[in-house]
Amino acid sequence: MIRVMFVCLGNICRSPMAEAIFCDLIKKEQLNDKITVDSAGTGGWHIGNPPHPKTIAILKKHNISTEGLVAQQISKQDKDKIDYIIAMDEQNKQDLLQLFGEDDSIEFAKLMDFVDETAEKDVPDPYFTGNFTYTYELISKGCHQLLQYLKDKHSIS
Ligand code: 4NP
Repeated sequence: MIRVMFVCLGNICRSPMAEAIFCDLIKKEQLNDKITVDSAGTGGWHIGNPPHPKTIAILKKHNISTEGLVAQQISKQDKDKIDYIIAMDEQNKQDLLQLFGEDDSIEFAKLMDFVDETAEKDVPDPYFTGNFTYTYELISKGCHQLLQYLKDKHSIS
């Protein structure tokens, strides 16, 4: 099983959006038995909460299920449950490297590392920008290309 964990700051905007989109893709491609997905925040302010109402709204608009999305905070104990940890921005990535240390058992990346056709290196945080549509577009592109990367790397189809 390939275990993917998306991480942002609060786990109510970007990473649950990525979890829901990626989960939808995996289901459509019938890869549920090969890839699992989860999300978490580096901060703990929203633990137990559902995603931001605008995250829910944009996912619903695209017919993507928001079922089961509940904010959680990443912790050291999650180390053994993750193969790929995908940060939304550089600060998230640095925080994760600090939390887990340089660890060869986990591949650390940023979602935008997988997107060629964008100038963005980080996914802008819509909690602050208010632009959930742009964030959705970037995350959707990132999820499609991340899935292609995993399929190629692990020779799955
Ligand atoms: P996210 O956005 O990291 O994409 O979930 C944020 C949500 C909440 C806060 C910061 C960022 N906050 O400070 O509460």
